[in-house]
Amino acid sequence: MSIKLGDTAPNFTANTTEGIIDFYNWSADKWVVLFSHPADFTPVCTTELGTVAKMKADFDKRDVKVIALSVDEIEMHHEWIKDINETQSTTVNFPIIADPEFKISTLYDFVHPNASDKFTVRSVVIIGPDKKVKLIITYPASTGRNFVELLRVIDSLQLTANYSVATPANWKNGEDVVVAPSIKTADIAAKFPKGFKEIKPYLRMTPQPNL
Ligand code: BEZ
Repeated sequence: MSIKLGDTAPNFTANTTEGIIDFYNWSADKWVVLFSHPADFTPVCTTELGTVAKMKADFDKRDVKVIALSVDEIEMHHEWIKDINETQSTTVNFPIIADPEFKISTLYDFVHPNASDKFTVRSVVIIGPDKKVKLIITYPASTGRNFVELLRVIDSLQLTANYSVATPANWKNGEDVVVAPSIKTADIAAKFPKGFKEIKPYLRMTPQPNL
């Protein structure tokens, strides 16, 4: 099955390092980052999971729950977590799904057979509180993800969800944002009391509204 932006994220039951979960119950009304890994006891994945554990407060601040997945067995995950904690000087503080039958990986399109038919690729799916898929990024196994970039994307997604704005290239939290094309210029002043600059009729900038 192929999963696309705007689709409803499929629900599933999974065995995780924090027990069996029903994904919808577990995620409740939070944002979710679901990210897949090629395999346990691999170097890049070890650094990624350690990095995410250290960034837990950044995800919590944004009301985001994080859940990892690899196709190895749950016993291996528990053994691997000991190594992650030791080598990355952290404590893994989010669940890792064991998906040895590739059920969830298939549901979420985490297997790209021409890259590998034995391992999942390094994918990230961000799911909103409405259970809709907001972002999908896939990296090759050899490239570790930039989780600071993921926080930046979450900041952008949450701004768009709460205000009629989009974020420009290389935008960072605190910088001006783009007024959504759906807003008529005549209506901007009422909607954005901090003011706006019309650079072109289709390019209107306003200070970040939630600051
Ligand atoms: C890694 O996580 O280090 C890795 C996994 C599969 C292929 C290459 C690297």
